[in-house]
Amino acid sequence: MNAATFVLFGATGDLAQRKIYPALFNLYIDRKLSPSFSVIGLGRTEWTESDFRSRVEQSIRTFSRRPAVNEAELNAFLDLFRYCRLNVAVPEDYEQLLELVRKREQQLSIPENRIFYLSVAPELFETIARNIQESGLGSVSGWKRLLIEKPFGRDLQSARALNEQLSSVFAEEEVFRIDHYLGKPMIQNLQMLEYTNPILQALWKNQYVANVQITASETVGVEERAAYYDKAGAIRDMFQNHMLQVLTMFAMQLPRHSTAEDVADKKRSVLASLRQFHKEEVIHHVIRGQYTSGYIDGKPVAGYTEEPGIGAASNNDTFIAARLWIDNYFWSEVPFYIRTGKRMAEKSTRIVIEFKDPLDKYSRTNEPTTPNLLIIDIGPNEGISFQLNVKDANNDLKTEPIRVHYAADQDDVPEAYENLIHNALVGDPTFFARWDEVELSWKWVQPILEAFEDKANNFVPLHLYEAGSDGPEASRGLLEEDGFHWWPAL
Ligand code: BG6
Repeated sequence: MNAATFVLFGATGDLAQRKIYPALFNLYIDRKLSPSFSVIGLGRTEWTESDFRSRVEQSIRTFSRRPAVNEAELNAFLDLFRYCRLNVAVPEDYEQLLELVRKREQQLSIPENRIFYLSVAPELFETIARNIQESGLGSVSGWKRLLIEKPFGRDLQSARALNEQLSSVFAEEEVFRIDHYLGKPMIQNLQMLEYTNPILQALWKNQYVANVQITASETVGVEERAAYYDKAGAIRDMFQNHMLQVLTMFAMQLPRHSTAEDVADKKRSVLASLRQFHKEEVIHHVIRGQYTSGYIDGKPVAGYTEEPGIGAASNNDTFIAARLWIDNYFWSEVPFYIRTGKRMAEKSTRIVIEFKDPLDKYSRTNEPTTPNLLIIDIGPNEGISFQLNVKDANNDLKTEPIRVHYAADQDDVPEAYENLIHNALVGDPTFFARWDEVELSWKWVQPILEAFEDKANNFVPLHLYEAGSDGPEASRGLLEEDGFHWWPAL
């Protein structure tokens, strides 16, 4: 099994509390952690062991999808945790850490398998990686792995520089770049859906598909992340990573063998086939927006520039919609519309596949029918729906659309972080972004960034949209130009 030491940088942070501890807890409950497993939390704060464990406990009680009902089990879980104060820039602190890691390895008979999870600002990645190497923490007789959170760079050049720094310490197969959208069960399910359903396999191509729409809308605003978000915007925060990863997972051709390597090769090939925009063309295919004040669930909310920490003159994007094409044999000439935004009407991540209407000409009525749709709901609720047409029972000349819907039992669905941490522990990189994918996605996004930043030519205007709406009017225009419209969620 995965007998290992889980070394967590950023143990006092928000992500650890909300996602990482609950994920470890659920893996523990599901017996997916080895009995020989230790967690070492690291942070700058002076915490005692008991401070740390009560934080972990509180995080589980607040955020775990399963309540911690069995006290004995919860205590046994908490017993896996140790805390070590560490300043990432101080080499002596790593020596102390190594001592603790070894002590626990001996106590729990854990082989030298170490996973380093960097839930910290990316500026610290290089310092930490270097210190892991120089302290001897990374010299193991078993395996070592590095798990890192986004953002992986802020453009093509910085991503390359970061990769170079990390690769002097960790080999590519030891680096697990987290894109938590790849951990969502419905994303992990896409390949299986296609493999096991020949009816989908047969239709998943340009011959039958009119367009594909990928939406990740959120109702939350910038929250307490102004300093980061105002520099990143929706393009870096969601689009370059999550949205393009969802696109590749959907559009890749099924590999003959399903090894992680094959999957990454197929994803790479989708990214390499994306039609590249020139900076001057971006304005025709990309809409950027920013929310103004409005109402979410009936409650008034502030506009982006009134949010704490955001300047009144900020022209950062909180919404992006793009039309793009994958110039390969299967998808050529099928437009893909992708949008993501904050403070929109609903929280929903979904893929909608709109089918062509080849039978129209045989229709007895000459009335247009509603297109067939396949809707894959990725979150917050998971499901699959088909929109089909049936004859109106009371009118021979009319059809009406019906939806056939499957909804997953949400109590039973693991969270993205559970899947990803487990995948990393067993050494399966399938649902992580390989370096060449990250590089290609930055390469594709680069002219968009440049067009956004070219204030002198005002290449890409910033469209305002009201909080609680579907985003700027201009994003509807993008589809209307092609005779389509955004399909709403169910
Ligand atoms: C994160 C972004 O990666 O994804 C956030 O930084 C965003 O801004 C979040 O809110 C959305 O994730 P999910 O799983 O809630 O769709």
